[in-house]
Amino acid sequence: MGTYRVAAQIDSIAPEPATVITISVDGVAVDGLLGQTLAGVMLGSDIMAWRNTSFGDQPRGLFCGIGICFECLVVVNGQRDVRACQRRAASGDQIEFHRDLPVHVEDAESEGPS
Ligand code: FES
Repeated sequence: MGTYRVAAQIDSIAPEPATVITISVDGVAVDGLLGQTLAGVMLGSDIMAWRNTSFGDQPRGLFCGIGICFECLVVVNGQRDVRACQRRAASGDQIEFHRDLPVHVEDAESEGPS
């Protein structure tokens, strides 16, 4: 038995047609499919990073994808620290990126006096 893709017309599971939903990601309307996680919707729209680290200001997005690493945190409808890989997207969700994370002291000192 080989692997092959089953055409939708002959798929015995008979999946229902996908329902398109729209969420706002940092002020931009993004379409996804009902049942996708927030991370899935963002990755499907080529949004690969949605926060920066406190150490080194490095971009972060999806890492483990199973709710373990907390790399994928976003603000959802005003609620902070939501794991995008664990939260199903709902039409009308307002996603914002974490931009107010504290900067590590050594990073702040290396920027010089303000
Ligand atoms: S990607 Fe690891 S918790 Fe979401």
